[in-house]
Amino acid sequence: MLLTKRVDGRSFNIRIEGAGEPILFVHGFPLDQTMWNHQIDHFSKSLQVIAPDLRGFGESSPAEGTVEMKDFADDLAGILDALEIKKPVHFCGLSMGGYIAWEFVQRHPGKVKSLILCDTKASPDSEEAKANREQTAQRVLAEGPEFLAIAMAEKLFSPHTIAENPDVVKRTQSLIRSTNPNSIAAALRGMAVRADMDVVLKSIDVPTLAIVGEDDQLTTPDVMKEMAKGISNAQFVEVQQAGHMSPLEQPKFVNQAIEDFLRSLS
Ligand code: MLT
Repeated sequence: MLLTKRVDGRSFNIRIEGAGEPILFVHGFPLDQTMWNHQIDHFSKSLQVIAPDLRGFGESSPAEGTVEMKDFADDLAGILDALEIKKPVHFCGLSMGGYIAWEFVQRHPGKVKSLILCDTKASPDSEEAKANREQTAQRVLAEGPEFLAIAMAEKLFSPHTIAENPDVVKRTQSLIRSTNPNSIAAALRGMAVRADMDVVLKSIDVPTLAIVGEDDQLTTPDVMKEMAKGISNAQFVEVQQAGHMSPLEQPKFVNQAIEDFLRSLS
């Protein structure tokens, strides 16, 4: 079921399915909640699945200026309150969704039961990465997202997915093409100013699962393995024949890994 909720004067589109312990799926940049369709179908059989479109993305209100990771995190807390979800959630975020997770776990600790971090990292942007993001933001504002849709395909997917599952790549590209340029720029600027979260890894006290595609070029297996080592109660899983979009590229394997992790908590 798709619901619309207003939080702080903004409208949010939220997919909510199933019943049981809540699991919150937080999409990456510049995508929307539909990237989790395989996970929603699978986990709604046993859990309450909540998958919102973040501010500026999908069918949620557009964004302007700079949207920081803490802003997205506070939106999510507001969405859970608006849905009257009282139990702590399993927070599953991909890439930018993981950057948001670091803020969420610090700002709303009572709302988190576990973390599932897919293809993400804790380190901040280098000066070069910040400059690239600003260039991309300005180009998207001037030209629209077409160039990004083309450029991101090779960065997001493994060569295996590009060869064997071109429809997934095409669907993701059309999602990027349909995203509001102001919202894309606002998230880029927000990611550029995100804090160094390597320093908070030690304080993460909820069970954590780190998942990464073997061909992820944006957040490589080495980077994620190191990150997982920094968290006292973390498990690490590498996904074969997957890139940066591992839950979309290898849904069966990733769903099983998440299911095994959740079972290990009970
Ligand atoms: C994402 O998938 O959310 C982005 O690649 C994150 C980023 O650009 O750092």
